[in-house]
Amino acid sequence: MNIKSEVSSICVRKSGPLEGNVRVSGAKNSALKLMAAALLAPGRSILHNVPRIADVVWMGELLAQMGCAVSHQSDTTIIDVPDEIVPEAPYEIVERMRASIVVLGPLLGRFGKARVSVPGGDDFGHRPIDMHLRGLKELGATFTTSHGYIEGRAHRLEGTRVLLEFPSVGATENLLMAAVLAKGETVIDNAAREPEIEDLASFLNGMGAVVDGAGTSTVSVEGVDSLIPVEHTVLPDRIEAATYLAAVGAVGGQVCIEGGRADHMKMFLNKLVDMGMEISSAADGIHVARLDRLHSVDVSTLPYPGVATDYQPLLLAMLSVADGIGIVTENIFGGRLRALDELVRLGADIRAEGHHVLIRGVESLSGARVRAPDIRAGAALVVAGLAAEGETIVGDAHHVARGYEDLVGRLSSLGANVTHM
Ligand code: UD1
Repeated sequence: MNIKSEVSSICVRKSGPLEGNVRVSGAKNSALKLMAAALLAPGRSILHNVPRIADVVWMGELLAQMGCAVSHQSDTTIIDVPDEIVPEAPYEIVERMRASIVVLGPLLGRFGKARVSVPGGDDFGHRPIDMHLRGLKELGATFTTSHGYIEGRAHRLEGTRVLLEFPSVGATENLLMAAVLAKGETVIDNAAREPEIEDLASFLNGMGAVVDGAGTSTVSVEGVDSLIPVEHTVLPDRIEAATYLAAVGAVGGQVCIEGGRADHMKMFLNKLVDMGMEISSAADGIHVARLDRLHSVDVSTLPYPGVATDYQPLLLAMLSVADGIGIVTENIFGGRLRALDELVRLGADIRAEGHHVLIRGVESLSGARVRAPDIRAGAALVVAGLAAEGETIVGDAHHVARGYEDLVGRLSSLGANVTHM
């Protein structure tokens, strides 16, 4: 897989209006979990519509280190899982990609043992995994922690009723993947309802699992003795779609986001309509147009079906140049406001109080050197750069390559003035 992860900066010049069609890739946040889920069955699982991004390569490396054979051909990833593997996720990979924690559930479910590096804090600050561990313990796993690693053990897990303290996406996924091979029925209450959970359940059911209710807050799983490999197409990436929507929001234009699923991002689209954008859903994707300057709105991030925290930096970029004052409240990750200082460097008028952000829209931003603090904030800075006079250089662009397949090429195809450096 050819990834532009060696690229260190993205150069953006004032652009717009954007015109044309752009295709979204498969969802990063689904593909990574489905790759982990492949561990549940010996044999060859095949994933289509896999985004060609650095995180997919790293997840492939993790599976390869465990003993799987992983190959990527265009947007198809083939995973051959042997009968026995090395059930370990080392520090070097977990530290780079926190999502690798989702191997814990499938490893305990199928092999009864797992050794996974304790994930440290990351770009969003402190990110505990207590809910993952508590749920897995309720299914019968035991854990010890030493030398920076969690070691999990289980005889065959036993189904039970698990109530999540918060609808955590990762905890729901780990529990689902552990429960499919457990003895008897597991019910997850207060489960996350994100579309990626439904995609995972459909992948697991394709393997012969019996999962019901995914996409609602109560998911039930009837454990089976073994699973078979599966061929599956990853759902489209709603956060990538949101990025093109935000770009049109920031600089205007008329664009079709091919493959975008409006039904997966209704609340976000409602907010964009409130801001003055014209949005419609069609068989080929999401059609968006913005003619006049956006109006500011207030937005709070919430678990699905609320406005996703991943959209928040993109909203900040749009609100920075909208007419009026908006308040954005970040309810999911307290530490996820790292785009702020960089947007201020571009001339945005933003002030944060705890997890509330007050944005007074300005007529125009002014290009400067900034740094991508994480994947989505990096993309938001590219979006803001499109609306900034002169040149914006977004450094640390390897963060963007972790989550976007050719963001620069796709924005350029819409007429944006964006290049790699
Ligand atoms: C996933 C997504 C991320 C998205 C997030 C919320 C991936 C790779 N990442 O992250 O892009 O922003 O969902 O939609 O899919 N929490 C605990 N204890 C736990 C687990 C979570 O306190 O055991 C807290 C977190 O710190 C956070 C909140 O719960 O405050 C939500 O986190 P969670 O839904 O688990 O996010 P991730 O699965 O890590």
